[in-house]
Amino acid sequence: MCGIIAALSYNDNISNNLISALERLEYRGYDSAGIAYLDNNSSLQRIRTVGKVQLLKETVERQQIKSHIGIGHTRWATHGTVTEFNAHPHTADGVAIVHNGIIENYQELKKGLVNEGYVFESETDTEVIAKLIASHIKSGKTFFEAFKQSVNELVGTFAITAIYEKEPHILLGAKKGSPMAVGISPDKQSGYIASDAVALSTLANELAYLEEGDIVVVKKEDQILYEIFESNGQKIRREIVPNKVSLNDVSKNGYESFMLKEIFEEATVARKTYERFNYNIDISKFNNISIIACGTSYYAGIVAKYWIEAIAKIHVDVEIASEFRYRNPVLTKNSLYIFISQSGETIDTLCAMRLVKEAGIKTLALVNVDTSSIAREADFTIKTEAGVEIGVASTKAFVAQMLSLLMLCCRNIDIEAIERSINAILNGDHDIAKLANKIKDCRSLFYIGRGVNYPIALEGALKIKELSYISAEGYPAGEIKHGPIAIIDENIYTMALAPYDKYFDKTISNAREILARNGKILLITTNDAKNFLHGIDKNENVECVFLPENNPLYLPFSLTTFIHLLAYYTAKAKGHDVDKPRNLAKSVTVE
Ligand code: F6R
Repeated sequence: MCGIIAALSYNDNISNNLISALERLEYRGYDSAGIAYLDNNSSLQRIRTVGKVQLLKETVERQQIKSHIGIGHTRWATHGTVTEFNAHPHTADGVAIVHNGIIENYQELKKGLVNEGYVFESETDTEVIAKLIASHIKSGKTFFEAFKQSVNELVGTFAITAIYEKEPHILLGAKKGSPMAVGISPDKQSGYIASDAVALSTLANELAYLEEGDIVVVKKEDQILYEIFESNGQKIRREIVPNKVSLNDVSKNGYESFMLKEIFEEATVARKTYERFNYNIDISKFNNISIIACGTSYYAGIVAKYWIEAIAKIHVDVEIASEFRYRNPVLTKNSLYIFISQSGETIDTLCAMRLVKEAGIKTLALVNVDTSSIAREADFTIKTEAGVEIGVASTKAFVAQMLSLLMLCCRNIDIEAIERSINAILNGDHDIAKLANKIKDCRSLFYIGRGVNYPIALEGALKIKELSYISAEGYPAGEIKHGPIAIIDENIYTMALAPYDKYFDKTISNAREILARNGKILLITTNDAKNFLHGIDKNENVECVFLPENNPLYLPFSLTTFIHLLAYYTAKAKGHDVDKPRNLAKSVTVE
């Protein structure tokens, strides 16, 4: 949430690099964007716009800026509405800062600063940081000392970068709870601090990731270099790792959106995950498995519960991280705790994992970004092989997570069958756009399924609501009659996930209960069910989609690709930005 970038260079066209990094960081938030920079007279300037980075880009381009040092921000609003006043960077007496995270004691700090005579222009928690640094500079401290002291006074989570007009040759950054990386350009002419490797993909080939409490100074000497200090003030070297994010990863490659590109990668991702899976974790040693995650990653955990309990006969709990971490869970040493996260930065999942580690229990993370906080802090990590996922709605990462989890309990997998069935959806002649047109104006929708199809129904409903803003609920098909059926009328569509598996007849009965109340059904089934439909396909309120038949174990993969495409086309039919749905951001680094 919120993307930050800072750059210091011998060149004076730093604004281009700030903007290109912000474009790549936009998946972290797009409520507003802004940059601050020092002009050729070393005077602090600021440009902020409400809305997406494109607007900032156009404004910046019109101004033909010459600057060698600056910071930039793309915002996902936490404190304060989406206005220019609340947009970052925030400034005070020649200091400018950008921030990702939440400052919990900002009211208290603000009181003190107001008493000193500072006037606040925004409703944000962030503005106190700029004023605090300025106040310490006023009391005689250097920029670095003032920054360090301010950081020590902050309670909460943050990644902050700052510049100061009277010290135009240094950039400062601090990390606690929110991710931060630092890198130098290959020609040593520019140095950068950013939220992630994606921001720096075309700017720095090698990166160092800051650890909790670190402060980084990027400075201009004979060349651009950086120094990192631990919270105790000691200089420290953090491991330098290659920046593996390529231009290809951050381009749409001819697709009209990242989401569509990423759905079209689902078969390849399944193949890569299968081929690169070389982890020897013997889950049979454990009496119990607890899976903890958020959102789509949580649903992958529920899919795994069905598989692991059926195949490995081990009891599995699946929990939402934000609930797990605050409910005083009973932790047991002979349990395996698995934390799933695409980004590896989701704060609730990270903190839930820390809770388990603090109890002296080993943790296993299933993470897509191997340089992320969760990957670095877990005792053991399985890397999912989805590649960089930029569309805000997670798609291909879900496929990689499911396959990795399946491989934890079953190594004898027919990957060709999985690939083939996903490709049959991607390249098949199902007119998914036409189906999307039918559901796009619904007041609300249900997705229903039984067994392993239930978490896929949850995923289908989540994707519909986050992209199309239609109220959608995923339900176990057998549960509908315990209340939700009251909502059913002729305006409600229900997507029934009913492949020809052991739950088929029961789900069809549940679909008939909905039809009896004039509800409409989109029956998503498989070719081998055709002889067992007993006329339901002839009902005027039923639309059938036949997916390729497969081993029931692999059906969640093709169903997933189908529901992802259906969500994509529904959002498109409504004219929405599928990569940047409203109010959302990828990488949820605030609680
Ligand atoms: C939904 C979606 C979110 C994420 C959730 C967890 O399409 O993308 O629900 O799945 O925010 O994120 P990670 O997996 O990065 O921890």
